[in-house]
Amino acid sequence: MERNEAPRAEREALLAALRLQVEWGADEALEVAPVDRFAAPTAAAVALPAPALRPSLAPPPVALPVPAAPAAAARLAAGAGDLAALKAAIAAADSPLRDTATNLVFADGNPEAGLMMIGEAPGADEDRLGRPFVGASGQFLDRMFASIGLERSRDFYLTNILPWRPPGNRSPTDAEVTLFLPFVLRHIALVRPRHLVLLGGVSAKTLLRAKEGITRLRGRWHRVEGEGVSLPALATLHPAYLLRSPAAKRDAWADLVLLRRTLDGAITPG
Ligand code: URA
Repeated sequence: MERNEAPRAEREALLAALRLQVEWGADEALEVAPVDRFAAPTAAAVALPAPALRPSLAPPPVALPVPAAPAAAARLAAGAGDLAALKAAIAAADSPLRDTATNLVFADGNPEAGLMMIGEAPGADEDRLGRPFVGASGQFLDRMFASIGLERSRDFYLTNILPWRPPGNRSPTDAEVTLFLPFVLRHIALVRPRHLVLLGGVSAKTLLRAKEGITRLRGRWHRVEGEGVSLPALATLHPAYLLRSPAAKRDAWADLVLLRRTLDGAITPG
């Protein structure tokens, strides 16, 4: 054993704790040096009064990021005349999520396809690569839609309600959803698809302005209204939920069949 090397069992326990923290979403260190909060206070630490009691040493106040007001976001969104401008406008919108994410996740697929899908928010893989639905649930999504003959690069276009990854994959807050909704509506207005697919509860409840959960909303056509568009929208289960709940795949399959029949013209959405 090298000098200073922690005994093996202790290192493994520390690694296990680190793994758990990563799993629970602590994906960045806030201080450069590790702090052992279980260690007894040192004499120096006990002797030093808290910085707040020594104003001359107190750090300057930190300017907290101010979330962009929805009105400002709406103005930025409305000013975007094409998809490239919309992407730039989203990147410019002030949000604490922008500070913790690595890459803006804007969209993927074919914007001319006539079918636009809207998910919830990027996860770790999407954040790393800057593309929506590239992780396990995205690969599952591709397999689901391939089963009714739809291929991402040709037959549909994909985006999310949030363009930045919430830290630790937590659910989006209402404030975050409200902030980015004008961009999503502008995105839909610029793409002008013939049909929308809303993937999961956050997307369906937000765009349908509904109180019901996804299990009640799924399986039928609704309408998304806003930004001068009124479009048929099918609510369905999120692929990440389906990976966790295999029993729900039966409902998802019924939704896929409904979509296929609608695209084939056998069903006209109300
Ligand atoms: N889940 C989503 O809702 N969107 C993604 O891009 C990835 C996972």
